[in-house]
Amino acid sequence: MKTLFALLLLPTVVWSYPSKEAQFKSSLKTVIANSTKPDVRPGMVIASPSRSNPDYYYDWVRDTALTYRSMIDYYELKKDPKIKKMIFTWIEAEAYRQNQPTFTGLGEPKYFIDGSGYTGGWGRPQNDGPALRAISMIKFARLLLKEGNQDYVIKVLYHGVLPADSVIKKDLEYTAHHWREPSFDLWEEEMGMHFYTMLSQFTALQEGAKLAQELGDSAAADFYRLQASSIETYLKDSFIDSEIGIKATVRRVNGGLGYKDSNLDVAPLLALLHNSPYQKLFLFNSAPVKKYIQTLKSRFNTLYAVNKAYPDLGVSIGRYPEDRYDGYQTTGTGNPWFLTTIALGEYYCHAGQETKSTKFDDLVQKQFARVLFHSDRAGALSEQFNHVTGIMQGAEELTWSHNAFMTAMMRCKLLK
Ligand code: NOJ
Ligand code: NOJ
Repeated sequence: MKTLFALLLLPTVVWSYPSKEAQFKSSLKTVIANSTKPDVRPGMVIASPSRSNPDYYYDWVRDTALTYRSMIDYYELKKDPKIKKMIFTWIEAEAYRQNQPTFTGLGEPKYFIDGSGYTGGWGRPQNDGPALRAISMIKFARLLLKEGNQDYVIKVLYHGVLPADSVIKKDLEYTAHHWREPSFDLWEEEMGMHFYTMLSQFTALQEGAKLAQELGDSAAADFYRLQASSIETYLKDSFIDSEIGIKATVRRVNGGLGYKDSNLDVAPLLALLHNSPYQKLFLFNSAPVKKYIQTLKSRFNTLYAVNKAYPDLGVSIGRYPEDRYDGYQTTGTGNPWFLTTIALGEYYCHAGQETKSTKFDDLVQKQFARVLFHSDRAGALSEQFNHVTGIMQGAEELTWSHNAFMTAMMRCKLLK
């Protein structure tokens, strides 16, 4: 009887899953669609096609920098000229918006689809944005230099003059001069000094210093290096916690949300991924990181019913345990997100690569399976999936969900 039941069940379970490769194709398609909307300034990316409940029809600097991180990775692998053209168009759009007047200069997190700065109330500045954008563009600059296109690099990306008139240098100058100031975190909720933001600023300045040096701007290289090493000291002195490993926020200004007591957040995990392979201050297998991952995993594992309901799949991960944003309002209950759940899978890939070990392979597969299980099984990914029912909710076809899936596939070397 039992066997019969298993036989009946098996095909549905097997057949209803899209393969990772099929999901990758859908994700690439959606990222391209969300990056080429006819009513949006060319090169700008909408966070989601959703225009109400929630309205995500804007371009966030962070989301877009990470989107193009995955496009640049993809270009590096496949050398697809169509993708390369999109990257150039994106750079033009970033150059345009860098010159728009905003409330907080380059720290402005969110833009209207015509490229002008958002004028409504918002958690600003968010100083991870310029740093993430610089890291993505520096990678592209390196690819272009390898291809022999130094002209474009010097003309558009990095030109050693002040005041800065090139995209990367503008972001580096902003970062070098503002990293000591508190800003809103990547979840746009808390003003303070954040691990995620500061590690990204560190990487931008470290990699920026190398590029500046190579391009003959050695005084700037020294200055960026000096700032990076001050950030390094701050990071090492301030974020290690004996209980949670790496904590998310050092100092809150104005008390923050008031209910975020654990200081446990997926943001440090994202920081490790988004600053890989550049930063070596916190290795994937180091003691504080391992402790942190363990804490994160066990906390979310017990928090979400959906983890107990499907214990054979990987662990569904949300933003932080006290989260009240359900994808529509902040008066609800937090849920697991796709981009944070796949992040744990990508973490295991890096941890395995760092130690040249295959011992994490099974955990990697389980995280991918968890994500595919809660997708609509036809390629769509929203922002979140319900912590009880497992059904998708929040902004539909979230660009960041898709680019996170793409990045995980590529960094796990799963894309053929
Ligand atoms: C929208 C933000 O993007 C999200 O991160 C936040 O949780 C809610 N607003 C509530 O502040
Ligand atoms: C809310 C998220 O908290 C934030 O990180 C993101 O930038 C925006 N949504 C847009 O996707």
